[in-house]
Amino acid sequence: MNILILGSGGREHALAWKIAQSALVDQVLCAPGNPGMDEIGPCFDIDPSNVEQVVKLVLQVEPDLIVIGPEAPLAAGVSDVLRARGFDVFGPSQAAAQLETSKAFSKERMVKYGVPTAAYRAFGAGEEDEAEAFLESLEPPYVLKADGLAAGKGVSILSTLEEAKAEARTMLGGKFGNASANLVIEEFMAGEEASLFVITDGEGAIYLPAAQDHKRLGEGDSGPNTGGMGAYAPAPVLTGDMFTRAVRDIVEPMLAGMAADGMPYQGVLYVGLMITETGPKVVEFNARFGDPECQALMAGLAGDIVPALLAAATQGLKGNEAAFEALLDLENFRPAVTVILASEGYPYKYDKGQVIAGVEAAGKIEGVEVFQAGTDRNGNGDLINSGGRVLAVTAIGDTLETAFQRAYQGVEVIDWPGGIHRRDIGWRVREK
Ligand code: AMP
Ligand code: GLY
Repeated sequence: MNILILGSGGREHALAWKIAQSALVDQVLCAPGNPGMDEIGPCFDIDPSNVEQVVKLVLQVEPDLIVIGPEAPLAAGVSDVLRARGFDVFGPSQAAAQLETSKAFSKERMVKYGVPTAAYRAFGAGEEDEAEAFLESLEPPYVLKADGLAAGKGVSILSTLEEAKAEARTMLGGKFGNASANLVIEEFMAGEEASLFVITDGEGAIYLPAAQDHKRLGEGDSGPNTGGMGAYAPAPVLTGDMFTRAVRDIVEPMLAGMAADGMPYQGVLYVGLMITETGPKVVEFNARFGDPECQALMAGLAGDIVPALLAAATQGLKGNEAAFEALLDLENFRPAVTVILASEGYPYKYDKGQVIAGVEAAGKIEGVEVFQAGTDRNGNGDLINSGGRVLAVTAIGDTLETAFQRAYQGVEVIDWPGGIHRRDIGWRVREK
C-alpha cells in the first residue's frame, strides 16, 4: 500500500522512516516533506493546511492511508474533507481536534467527563475585571493560556499578581491576535511532566510507552519555552500505578465522553500530564504526536506501526488491541533518546542558510538516526538550516544511558557551528 504523510518536521520524518520499514508499505509519499523525507519517498510541494491543495494531491496519488502529522491541517478540517471523499485518514476530525485547538473546549470536556486537571475559568472580550477578580482568588504562581493555537507560546506562568493582571489584559487585548481573544486562567500544578500517546479509533486504544519532553531552551530547564529541545522514552515517571491511573482516570473517560458526545476521537491523542502528589493531571491535550517525543518513540518501537495506524483510521482497533500491540512489539520497545539541534537564536530570530555537514556520518553510528526538520538544500546541494528546530539526533540502546551516550556521539559528529543544543537531555533520569 501507499501512505501519504502530511507535514515537514522531525516528527513527520520519523513517521515516514518508521512507516517505510513496514512490509505492508510499497511507497511513502510526503507533502510537503523535507530533504530527509525526500530520501524515503517522493515529496510534493503543497501547503498541508490548504484543503484544496491537499484534496487535489490526494485525488492524484490515491493513497491507501493519509497520516496527518501537525495540528494545522486538523484545525483546517483536512481530515473531515478527506474522509468525506472516502479516504482513510489517521488524524482526528476538526471537532475532536478542538481538544488541542481550543483550551476552553478542552477544559470544558475534562470537567464534563470528570478528568483530573487544574481548576480554571475562561474569559472573553470585555471580561478583564472578572479575570482580575479570579486571579485574586488564586495563589501564585499564576497560569494564563491563550485559548487558541499560538505555536506553543500562548502560556504565561507569572509569580506576582500584578504581572498576572497585566498579562491578562494584554492577552485579552490581542497579544496573540485571535488566539487570545479568549483566555484560560488556571491553578498551578506542581510536579514532573510526562507525555502519553494513545493510538485510538475512538473506542479501542493502544498506549505507547510514556515519553518526557524538554520544553525549555536552556540547560536545567531554564530560559524560554520552545517546541521541545529533546525527549526520551520510556519515562520512568509514568510507569506502573501512575500509568494505570492515567489510563483509567484520564484517557478512558475522555475517549468514552467524546464518542458519546458525537465527536469520536480517531488518531493519536497526546496527553500532556503533570504527575502531581495526588496523581496524574492533564496539562493539555494535543491532537497529534509530540515533536520531539515522536522521534524517540518511532526509533524505539521494535514492531510494525502501520497496522495500528490503519486500524485507528478504519475503526478496527476495538477488541483487537492485543493483536496490534503484538505487531507493534511493545514489549521489546528499546529505550530511545532525541536531542534537538536548533538554529542559534531560536525560539526568536535566527539566521538561515548555514551549511550543515556530518548528518550522514552521524547516522552511521550504531543505533543513531538523524531526523530532519528545518532543513533545505542550497544551490550546491548542501544541506542548510531553514527553520528553528533543524535536526533531531535520535538513538536507541539496551538502556536509556546507552541511548543518551549514542545520541550525544551523534551530535558531536554533526558539523554546524551555528547549531545549538542542550547537553542535559534526560537529566531527571540520568542524575538518579
Ligand atoms: P501547554 O502549552 O498548555 O502545554 O503549557 C506549556 C507549559 O506550561 C507546560 O508544558 C507546563 O510546563 C506549563 N504549564 C501549563 N499549565 C500549567 C499548570 N496549570 N501548572 C503548571 N505548569 C503548567
Ligand atoms: N513536544 C511538545 C509538542 O509537540 O507539543
